[in-house]
Amino acid sequence: MHKKIKQLLQEAPGSEVIAKGWVRTKRGNKNVAFIALNDGSTINNIQVVCEVAAFDEELLKQVTTGACLAVKGKLVESIGSGQAVEIQASSIEVLGTADPETYPLQKKGHSMEFLREIAHLRPRTNTFGAVLRIRHAMAFAIHKFFNDKGFVYLHTPLITASDCEGAGEMFQVTTLDPENLPRTEEGKVDYSQDFFGRFTSLTVSGQLEGELGATALGDIYTFGPTFRAENSNTPRHLAEFWMIEPEMAFYDVNDLMDLEEEFIKYLVRYALDNCGDDLAFLNKMIDNELIDRLRSVLDTPFVRITYTEAIDILSASGRKFEFPVSWGVDLQSEHERYLVEQHFGRPVILTDYPKDIKAFYMKQNDDGRTVRGTDVLFPKIGEIIGGSERESSLEKLNARIAELGMDTTNLWWYLDTRRFGTCPHSGFGLGFERLLLFVTGMSNIRDVIPFPRTPKTAEF
Ligand code: 4AD
Ligand code: MG
Repeated sequence: MHKKIKQLLQEAPGSEVIAKGWVRTKRGNKNVAFIALNDGSTINNIQVVCEVAAFDEELLKQVTTGACLAVKGKLVESIGSGQAVEIQASSIEVLGTADPETYPLQKKGHSMEFLREIAHLRPRTNTFGAVLRIRHAMAFAIHKFFNDKGFVYLHTPLITASDCEGAGEMFQVTTLDPENLPRTEEGKVDYSQDFFGRFTSLTVSGQLEGELGATALGDIYTFGPTFRAENSNTPRHLAEFWMIEPEMAFYDVNDLMDLEEEFIKYLVRYALDNCGDDLAFLNKMIDNELIDRLRSVLDTPFVRITYTEAIDILSASGRKFEFPVSWGVDLQSEHERYLVEQHFGRPVILTDYPKDIKAFYMKQNDDGRTVRGTDVLFPKIGEIIGGSERESSLEKLNARIAELGMDTTNLWWYLDTRRFGTCPHSGFGLGFERLLLFVTGMSNIRDVIPFPRTPKTAEF
């Protein structure tokens, strides 16, 4: 049985081994060929050394970049290849050839834009291998963090009849024939004849169902795909992204901020402790300040200020922003990044936003104009987490819903949490890909998810 290259690279020389993987490069002369083989288990290749005379010439010709090989040989001490061991090959089987004329990943240093066009092959590059292994490690660490704290992983539905964020940015789910829509007597589309007997969409957030979980199980979290039909072509927005949404009974907004900070620091520490090789590669090739930035987040407490204080700082900054600031405006990424990168030089948690720029469910402050929402702002990214203490009073929640003119037909079950045994509770949503932008140093969100979904892109 073959072993992973990651494991072979750590073994003592001497044994007979089998390695399987894809050729990254082949070089050498007429006597000896050096093949760099990678199987995705690590950023590091294993070097395979072949005495040319001992192999069929036609076979060695098929050993080109991208070809898939099974190599048998002896693990020997390596002189000068930068790693402890290499394989002295006794036999090579070419499992799959890759025509050098057409295989697109020939030379190194392709642009990120080009690699997006070949998203089916880009996991074979060093950069995407590193990013995808870190993505896996972060997903695992998220489950570990919550499991160790006794949170229950709650699976919330992807198809829903409610719009949690109330922004109307939902993708419709229907089996009706668009060429032949059933109509009501008033001439509207008759969704009672649709698959679910009502109008449905892909979820923008699992929060509302998460709150049902928290008011029964105590502490829950969701971790799954969410969908937003917002036409935002930015390096920080996807139409399909993954979100982690914990929801905690009996947490107030201060407990909430403590958990937000602890959670992100845990994940960053986990990456530093467990993804060293991949981070070292990204630090060298993508962003020279990456590891320093990750360490610096661990060392400093996050700043906690109110939205109103932030507006004062921005107004006093003397900066000319593209979007001018005044109390009541929604903060843009340029404002968020000014606070984090220029003014404070560390992550910032903003609280007490104007109620008119936040969703209906946030706990209302006594001032009548702000709510207990929190956004966590990060260097290079801006908003990485959005969360809040929830409005637990049925009366106040109903008043806010009426004020916003929301349709409550599909929210009766949500309001029951406030009707029966309501409790103070809080929760937040961390955008998984925004976290990965921070942890990997990549600059475009399309490059931290295997198959990005953005406006006009849904290939692969
Ligand atoms: O701030 P948002 O919209 O909050 C919610 O959805 C709440 N229901 C969360 C909660 O309290 N349970 O989104 C939360 C986070 C953002 O801070 C951001 O990191 C990420 O989700 N996010 C996106 N990530 C990628 N592409 C997009 N289009 C995103 N929209 C939000
Ligand atoms: Mg938000």
